[in-house]
Amino acid sequence: MAMIWKFKYGHPFETEAVAEHIKETEEAPPLGTVSLQNGFRWRYELAKDDIVYGLGEAVRGINKRGHRYISHASDDPHHMESTQSLYGAHNFIVIAGEQNFGLFVDHPAKVTFDIGYTCSDILEISCQEADLYLYVIEGETPYEVVKQFRKIIGRSYIPPKFAFGFGQSRWGYRTKEDFRRVADGYRANHIPIDMLYMDIDYMQDFKDFTINGEEFGDFPAFVKEMKERNIRLIPIIDAGVKVEKGYPVYEEGVKNGYFCKREDGSDFVAAVWPGYTHFPDVINPEARRWFGDYYRTLTEQGIEGFWNDMNEPSIFYTPEGLEKFTELMRKFVDGKTDEVPPFYIKYVIMNLANNPKDYAAFYHQAGGQKIRHDKIHNLFGYNMTRAAGEAFERIAPEKRFLMFSRSSYIGMHRYGGIWTGDNKSWWSHILLNLKMMPSLNMCGFLYTGADLGGFGADTTRDLLLRWLALGVFTPLMRNHAALGTREQECYQFEGTEDFRHIIEVRYRLLPYLYSEYMKAALSDDLYFKPLAFEYPGDEMAAQVEDQLMLGSEIMIAPVYTQNARGRYVYLPEEMMFVKFMPDGTIYRKELAAGHHYVEIELNEVPLFIRAGKCIPVADAAESVERIDMGTLQLLGYKDAEYLLYEDDGVHKDYENPANRRLLTNR
Ligand code: GLC
Repeated sequence: MAMIWKFKYGHPFETEAVAEHIKETEEAPPLGTVSLQNGFRWRYELAKDDIVYGLGEAVRGINKRGHRYISHASDDPHHMESTQSLYGAHNFIVIAGEQNFGLFVDHPAKVTFDIGYTCSDILEISCQEADLYLYVIEGETPYEVVKQFRKIIGRSYIPPKFAFGFGQSRWGYRTKEDFRRVADGYRANHIPIDMLYMDIDYMQDFKDFTINGEEFGDFPAFVKEMKERNIRLIPIIDAGVKVEKGYPVYEEGVKNGYFCKREDGSDFVAAVWPGYTHFPDVINPEARRWFGDYYRTLTEQGIEGFWNDMNEPSIFYTPEGLEKFTELMRKFVDGKTDEVPPFYIKYVIMNLANNPKDYAAFYHQAGGQKIRHDKIHNLFGYNMTRAAGEAFERIAPEKRFLMFSRSSYIGMHRYGGIWTGDNKSWWSHILLNLKMMPSLNMCGFLYTGADLGGFGADTTRDLLLRWLALGVFTPLMRNHAALGTREQECYQFEGTEDFRHIIEVRYRLLPYLYSEYMKAALSDDLYFKPLAFEYPGDEMAAQVEDQLMLGSEIMIAPVYTQNARGRYVYLPEEMMFVKFMPDGTIYRKELAAGHHYVEIELNEVPLFIRAGKCIPVADAAESVERIDMGTLQLLGYKDAEYLLYEDDGVHKDYENPANRRLLTNR
């Protein structure tokens, strides 16, 4: 039996991360020691073999031991191993070993997780102000702990079925013609696709909820034209609202006091893509409702999905920061280098963006109180996405919308998914993508994926192919790249048939992937799991950091090394090694438990079916809508059964018993 304790310290902000009511306990936490001197500090001595799971979107391993992580939503397109903070802030960890328990630190400002960084066997969680809720969850196994946690934070977001198709994105598509060219590129090459993502250039001067009329005249007709080709257009929405007289979002926000304010009550100004912007105060329920209702301007034109961006919120600079910089520059140019040494100028330039001073210079309204942004910084992306999610409930309560965000906090998982932000065309980022997936699932984020091929820097054909072969399995499968990088739509490369094949495998597996996603979401379970969650007694399985369990039937083990022709895998039990071959056939071989080297060419998609299990496989299709469920075949062990979940993919009739069918592999 799992046990949950909730402890209150000081005056916590109500984040609404936890959806279930849990009674507070007065006594001290059953595990670890708490100190309230100089903020909050929880300390625990780790046993030598304890594993620490969780933290959602963070760098490094599935086992988080050996680094210091800081929960602080940060725009960091250059993240690497040493990075401490990423776009999301997910304060849930699980300690697995002799004692199995989880901790959720519900505190929306910076929280530091020193996981054997200062002292190899000490886990210390700290924050500056002791205003928080601490949840301690004890369970038989780490998996039990996670399931308990998932239960109390509420059901994960469920996207429409089309969102399980493949999507192409690029920052730089500017015109209808640009989008048509991409649609044509995919359709002409018969590479399946369901979504084209519209980055900031579809807007008029980067103004939220506007369309660049010159390039996208009669937008609803264009949305329809694409939809007739089974392609959904998915526009981006940014956090900052452009400061511009006459722009209704700006005018209304100012008039009603819906923007974040400076100490003196004036609207806070931050530069982002449109130039100077104001941030909608999404913490204030009234402002949140107002901002959310604006999504209707696009849903009314036929749009069925969005991605929310720059919502850490990211700040390029503020007028105050710029002013200080200009002053220093003046002194520097006047030759006062003793006062302003050159390195200091560089330092000031580098710190213009996302400066802590700026995050401490604006305020939200919550429950009639003014609250300084840095004290609840990690809630912005969550509440921007919640604004949209709550609005969708008003716009079309029976319908599912695609929604994912860059920044997030636990609680947001009920309103949308996330993509893992700006990554790089690096091999190490394929592996990072894989490792983040189960950690994110533990924190409630099921609809996730990375920018396949890499966002920053130039991709290569082999990198993209290998990354796609992992992306086949991530619920969000999107190829996205930054402005100025090499074009990376799949048809831009030689040997297009290899790309077609890999993406076709996604569609062939979609009945399984969708079914497993839905079952996980509907029962607060994991879609991706570390091997140890399925094979608790297996010491080797506990160490595997580059293979994942997906649903109840399969294990995945993608190749993430350049020039490799295969890889080593560890099988905790006998499994059927399956490869989807470029000629459309399926290679299968039963492998005994243990270590194996398996060959996997660039154009093959591998997976492993667990002993005694089977999975449904459909024929290839060019869009989700075209998948013919009548062609389903079962792949795997003979006489195995599979519980298929299937629904219309549009509505929310999840509990209908007709959605579940037991199939047997005869
Ligand atoms: C941010 C987003 C990226 C997008 C770019 C332009 O960097 O993370 O996905 O392409 O902004 O909107």
